[in-house]
Amino acid sequence: MSGFLNRGVNVRVTPKRAGIAAVAAVAAGLAFGWSGLFNISASTKHWPVTDWFLHWVMINSVETWSIGVEVPDNLDDRALIARGAGHYATGCASCHGAPGRPRSPLTDVMSPPPPDLDAKVPTWETAHLFTIVKHGVKFSGMPAWVSFDEREDEVWSVVAFLKKLPGMTPDEYKALAMGAETDGAVGGLVALAHGPQGRGPREDTLADCARCHGRDGLGRDGDAFPVIAGQSEDYLFDALSAYAVGKRHSGIMQPAAARLPYSELAALAEHYANQPAARPKDAPTPDPALVATGETIAREGVRATGTPACQSCHGPSAAARNPAYPSLAGQHASYLETQLHLWEKEHDSRGGGPFREIMRKVAFRLTPEEIRAVAAYYASLPPGK
Ligand code: HEC
Ligand code: HEC
Ligand code: HEC
Repeated sequence: MSGFLNRGVNVRVTPKRAGIAAVAAVAAGLAFGWSGLFNISASTKHWPVTDWFLHWVMINSVETWSIGVEVPDNLDDRALIARGAGHYATGCASCHGAPGRPRSPLTDVMSPPPPDLDAKVPTWETAHLFTIVKHGVKFSGMPAWVSFDEREDEVWSVVAFLKKLPGMTPDEYKALAMGAETDGAVGGLVALAHGPQGRGPREDTLADCARCHGRDGLGRDGDAFPVIAGQSEDYLFDALSAYAVGKRHSGIMQPAAARLPYSELAALAEHYANQPAARPKDAPTPDPALVATGETIAREGVRATGTPACQSCHGPSAAARNPAYPSLAGQHASYLETQLHLWEKEHDSRGGGPFREIMRKVAFRLTPEEIRAVAAYYASLPPGK
């Protein structure tokens, strides 16, 4: 090798010389960094070639890290899309804009600026969108999902929404992201600056919760959001506080709760505890074939696996329930199922109250079939039991 390199040039490449050259290159790089001559300011844009290179690297990386991602078959489900849209208004629109809502001039001067997703979404495959939303993009300002490992189900709800975004009208967007609330309700720092102080929650924070849960706590769009009306005040406050500090994982609820002081979370818990429990108008009907099996599990538990009867803690029963145990009667089956699978999977626990460890020990004894059955049973009960 050295013979070939030697031809015409009187330098022999020896391991020692190669080592010195490498050290010199590192030293030159450090000296350049130390000098401050490299311009990191966002006001100077990338050269077109740098832009092209960085984007090319990003595309390749996203493609590689999407290998093995399995796309679920329910991405057309209206409830899933509405849940993703609700979060899009909280966590994405401030950078990317939304139908009828232009991007802030502040984000136009980011480098790179967050792109217009209406045009970009069709250039990606569904699995790629999942990877981008789950993991974010380093060196760009595009954040990863809060609780990205635990809540892939939530990431998929945002992907389901993104798939519908191209060509969406402002009215369609408003219905999906805001429900019956008006524009002032969009979560974010700006909204917090307004609103009267007084008894009960502030108008602007309640309006933000109501985009998804309604002012009556019954949610909207079928089973898109859990029913929170009529839960005990203790349970609601503990759940909200746990979300706020990331103890109960949710990339949708954590940003909504974390920006509020505890006094406000307490006022919201009181508000929703005082709403009458009722069945949401468009709640899906639970599968009647499963209800009877579910009832046996709830009343008697499963002896073979040592699963206790759910009823002893969650009712329905004539005796008053411990306020730390949530009411499950009339809750959406899909929500209960998701929660039970999360309790099973998450080793550092979910829930927010003092007895949350108990529930994990119950959940991991249940089979997927038992979970489906017991969720259908509780969903079939009249709310408020
Ligand atoms: C703080 C600003 C910011 C927030 C918040 C943000 N993004 Fe981004 N996003 C960016 C930037 C900047 C890029 C460009 C990355 C690049 O080109 O390398 C980007 C890129 C993307 C892309 C890839 C588009 C493309 O082709 O380059 C998608 C999809 C996306 N974001 C979706 C979302 C979703 C969904 C949310 C909310 C969960 C979100 N973003 C929140 C800044 C943001
Ligand atoms: C973008 C939609 C959205 C917004 C805004 C939102 N929530 Fe939620 N909320 C959800 C979703 C989705 C869940 C289920 C999360 C999970 O899987 O843990 C949830 C769960 C909850 C729970 C737990 C229910 C239970 O049975 O354990 C409470 C309590 C709650 N939200 C209250 C609120 C309050 C109060 C606000 C306003 C500060 C709010 N939410 C804002 C979507 C939202
Ligand atoms: C010994 C009491 C106890 C028993 C028995 C019990 N649970 Fe629980 N359950 C709890 C506690 C405590 C929580 C969590 C409260 C918190 O968030 O701190 C909980 C939470 C839940 C949740 C989450 C509710 C929500 O709104 O997010 C579901 C779903 C649930 N339990 C289902 C069941 C089912 C199904 C059974 C029967 C197989 C069962 N539980 C048996 C005590 C119990």
